[in-house]
Amino acid sequence: MGTLKFERSEALSRESAKHIAGGVVSLNRKTDPPVVFVRAQGSKLYDADGHEFIDYHAAFAPFILGHNDPDVNAAVRKALDDGLSLMGSGTTSWEVRLAELVRACVPSLDLVQITNTGSEATAHAIRLSRAFTGREDIILMLGGYNGWHNDVARAVMPDAAATGPRVSPGEYAFVPSSAGIPEGTQRRVHLVNFNDLDSVEYVLRRYPIACVLTEPALQNIGIVPPQPGYLQGVRKLCDAYGALFVFDEVKTGFRASLGGYQGLCGVKPDLSVFGKAIANGYPLGVIGGRRDVMELFAHPDAKKRVLIAGTYNAHPFTSSAAIATIEKLRRSDGEVYRQLEAKGAKLQKGLEGLFAEKGVCAKVSRIGSAFCAYFSDHVPVDWHDLAASHNFDLDRKFRRALLERGVYHFPMAAKQGSIGAAHSEEDLARTLEATRDALRAL
Ligand SMILES: Cc1ncc(COP(=O)(O)O)c(C=O)c1O
Repeated sequence: MGTLKFERSEALSRESAKHIAGGVVSLNRKTDPPVVFVRAQGSKLYDADGHEFIDYHAAFAPFILGHNDPDVNAAVRKALDDGLSLMGSGTTSWEVRLAELVRACVPSLDLVQITNTGSEATAHAIRLSRAFTGREDIILMLGGYNGWHNDVARAVMPDAAATGPRVSPGEYAFVPSSAGIPEGTQRRVHLVNFNDLDSVEYVLRRYPIACVLTEPALQNIGIVPPQPGYLQGVRKLCDAYGALFVFDEVKTGFRASLGGYQGLCGVKPDLSVFGKAIANGYPLGVIGGRRDVMELFAHPDAKKRVLIAGTYNAHPFTSSAAIATIEKLRRSDGEVYRQLEAKGAKLQKGLEGLFAEKGVCAKVSRIGSAFCAYFSDHVPVDWHDLAASHNFDLDRKFRRALLERGVYHFPMAAKQGSIGAAHSEEDLARTLEATRDALRAL
């Protein structure tokens, strides 16, 4: 299948495999075909063989404004020209500005700390929760992704054989997504299906839980939204059992709304973590939340203090990118989000129309600018539901057929598509045209 030639991409990939373990940096980027991108601008990606693609992968979602946004890049250039450097001593004016801006957008953040990545932020959230509660066990969601460190490195899309059948109330085995995770760590992590309050309570009753850490909508298995009352229910359960409720807003933060998903659902988490869209493609993460919890980072008693450190935390270039991104989003006074919603709705309606026209059983799940087409008669409520109902093979073929027609989605089933402010009406029209043609070919 496929007429596009990826000769230069393939040659570069072969070269890469001689030097880089696994042939790509960050192994979850490995794709088939092994397309090598050499340039990106706005909504477009350009590969080594000269092909142009409309990009919905958006590097796993950070590009809320689009690639190489001129305002964000100008801020980074200015930081270079102004002689900003990594000071590594004391505070800096840019971290103060960034913290102030993030807090202005997300009211639940009494205090924040700044990291380089989302994974660092979730690691800190878990350690902070353990220190605050004096408990070691945590609850995570099956089908969630919260980074690569030991506590959270479970298979995002585990085999049904490995997890076993749906049980509610109940919990599932930690299926590690990596070798080298101590068994002791795995025993501390309890996995439940998303949207299943009974299971959250089942685990809370049996173990002393430090925190329930979840994406407010599961956005690493497409877009699985919380059912009405679910997040509110978890909030109540956490309060009843003395656990902290942590929102992993690495994907939803600054994308679902300026105030994150919590700005839409009205549930106030104890801690939140952000990444991705916060700096429009530059590496930056944030952890923040309740003052009494966050203050553990600076507890006067060294035995109670929680360590946070990092040579590059709040680097001036990435901080400048985040400041420029947030300032641009705020300046628009909601217009960026209104337009993203309108574009998302248009794409959803167009895609659903085409699926219906071609008799393809599919549903588009969407939260604003984040979307995913499920080849199923319904939007799944959790991983078990998705695994049982989604046509993974058709999804992979669909993505490949779109790639052949100049539309880039990550070529793996059930991965989120992301629209950015740079996507134009013409991009959407071309995407729908490509979809019509792809469905015809399939
Ligand atoms: C919801 C969520 N949390 C955490 C992370 C980890 O962030 P990072 O890759 O910046 O470490 C990701 C990355 O995809 C994510 O989607």
